[in-house]
Amino acid sequence: MNYRHHFHAGNFADVIKHALVVRLVAALQRKEKGFLYLDTHAGRGSYDLTTAEQGDSLARTPEWPAGVGRLWSAAGLPDLLADYVAIIRRHDQQQGNLTGEPRFYPGSPVLVAALLRPQDRMALCERHSDECAALRANMGLSPRCVVQAMDGYVAIRAMLPPVEKRALVLIDPPYEAEHEFADIVRGVKEGLARLPGAVIAIWYPFTKRARVDAFFNQLRALDLPPTAVAELAVAGEFSALKMRGCGVVIINPPWQFEAEAAPALTNLANILAQEPGATGRYWWLVPER
Ligand SMILES: C[S@@+](CC[C@H](N)C(=O)[O-])C[C@H]1O[C@@H](n2cnc3c(N)ncnc32)[C@H](O)[C@@H]1O
Repeated sequence: MNYRHHFHAGNFADVIKHALVVRLVAALQRKEKGFLYLDTHAGRGSYDLTTAEQGDSLARTPEWPAGVGRLWSAAGLPDLLADYVAIIRRHDQQQGNLTGEPRFYPGSPVLVAALLRPQDRMALCERHSDECAALRANMGLSPRCVVQAMDGYVAIRAMLPPVEKRALVLIDPPYEAEHEFADIVRGVKEGLARLPGAVIAIWYPFTKRARVDAFFNQLRALDLPPTAVAELAVAGEFSALKMRGCGVVIINPPWQFEAEAAPALTNLANILAQEPGATGRYWWLVPER
């Protein structure tokens, strides 16, 4: 396992994923009853962007300026994006940044922790021991949060269904392994067998398009409940960028999620474009019946 998220923290992929997760949490909180947030691939929880350019042995170009950096002071953002930026800014200030540029960026666990109500809980899985130790330190002690150094796919089996019978599951793997898509499909199948109403968000990159198409076909074959896809391409189809876009598959999206997400994706494509051909799109893999 070589992947370290801090090289990528705050990039365009984090922006779309985190902005959508903030909205999904808000949608689940429309009901008074609590829910479990399960983060299967949690990372370390908080990132110092000033270290993003220091690799283990290589100097790296930081990715956040073309991501959260472009939204930091943007005016006229739709609510979905403005709410996300407000949370990121609050975290950055609370961590002590006094400069005008972003410095401290929250990972998905810290972002969601800022939103949880007393009746909500979170379970965070991070298999890498150093990252998990950092995550524990970043989350502190809370009776509502468990951190496990375990495989996120095993956690789906172990932690669903929760006592609340409501869950938001974020599956955000590094895609280093060839079998990652197969693991996700198996995890989704097992998760839905245990909790058919679970809201499951799966982040994926646009790298080799054919593999994503195969992934979609495998998901379709599961006889899924309504499932939407939120996509963001920062460059056109023939771009030489290593990752020209990404998406989030949302199983059981909350009612009327599309009405807010679709225009926000178009907005994001305009703001985060790196080359001609940037697009944002919300479409249904399995339509609502
Ligand atoms: C993309 S990062 C997660 C970022 C995080 N969700 C966020 O948005 O801030 C993926 C993380 O998954 C961890 N990881 C890789 N395979 C895992 C597995 N099978 N189970 C749990 N964690 C895993 C990696 O160490 C890495 O920290």
